[in-house]
Amino acid sequence: MKGIILAGGAGSRLYPLTRVASKQLQPVYDKPMVYYPLTTLIENGVRELCLISTPQDIPRFQQLLGDGRRMGLEIDYREQAKPEGIAQAFLIAESFIGKDPVTLILGDNLFSGGDTIQKAFDEFTTGAAIFGYHVHDPERYGIVEIGLDGKAISIEEKPKKPKSDYAVPGLYIYDNQVVGITKALQPSPRGELEITDVNQAYLTQGQLKVYKFGRGFAWLDAGTSSSLSDSSAYVRTIEQRQGIKIGCPEEAAFKRRFIDVHQLEELVREMPRCEYSEYLSGVVQEARGK
Ligand code: DAU
Repeated sequence: MKGIILAGGAGSRLYPLTRVASKQLQPVYDKPMVYYPLTTLIENGVRELCLISTPQDIPRFQQLLGDGRRMGLEIDYREQAKPEGIAQAFLIAESFIGKDPVTLILGDNLFSGGDTIQKAFDEFTTGAAIFGYHVHDPERYGIVEIGLDGKAISIEEKPKKPKSDYAVPGLYIYDNQVVGITKALQPSPRGELEITDVNQAYLTQGQLKVYKFGRGFAWLDAGTSSSLSDSSAYVRTIEQRQGIKIGCPEEAAFKRRFIDVHQLEELVREMPRCEYSEYLSGVVQEARGK
């Protein structure tokens, strides 16, 4: 399974924060925003990654993550010249995807808790898998109507009269048909290749599976000033209460055995002495049974 992190866009909703650094590099409590979706992919076993962003921001992501090898990853970078739709990611990353299935995650989405995502990855064979999350403001999202058997009945982008309260978060799993499906799409009235149209195509073929996130699962999209602040508050609360970090890619890579304890130790050694490196030292010590 290949993975795409979509981290472009104009960032206009977070202006002036985004004058010098893109939205997905802004801090969510103690880490850059992109660490959270990156960690979600690593936790689910995805190690071949393509990060898509604007031509101006790609060098900054490269500075942050490099080629990923230190974390046992392979990270490719691709430019999106203009924000012409989430689904455009599959065209930009076509050569990266090759003949494989692919998962796409939005660079400003934070997922925390439960094992629903793991289940979706484990069960995935063909078609498409998306998620449903109960929200109070469904007109702001892609909305999926889910039948009693758990199958999708309809899917609409930001409907004025939503048929359900289940929003579709920015995490999608597709088989290799996704590239061909996207090539056949027309831009929407807002001039974008819509991810909801990709999902609609799978739905029409009877190949769209929906996993509902249960109560207590957190999905936050850190794309506005208030949701950015909410996300930071959420992460701070959980981390301080539990002493466990959310969105720590080095730890996830170690737990997934992408790197061994020596490599994790080496990563820690390269970091300045700080709360983050002390946390990871704790992970090393625990692994060594100390
Ligand atoms: O957050 C989940 C929602 O994301 C879904 O429920 C919707 O179905 C989906 O269309 C999308 O809705 P938004 O209107 O919130 O998407 P937005 O245009 O804000 O883009 C989401 C992220 O993707 C944002 O961080 C910027 C990035 N992006 C977006 C576009 C359109 C790109 O990198 N390139 C793009 O061309």
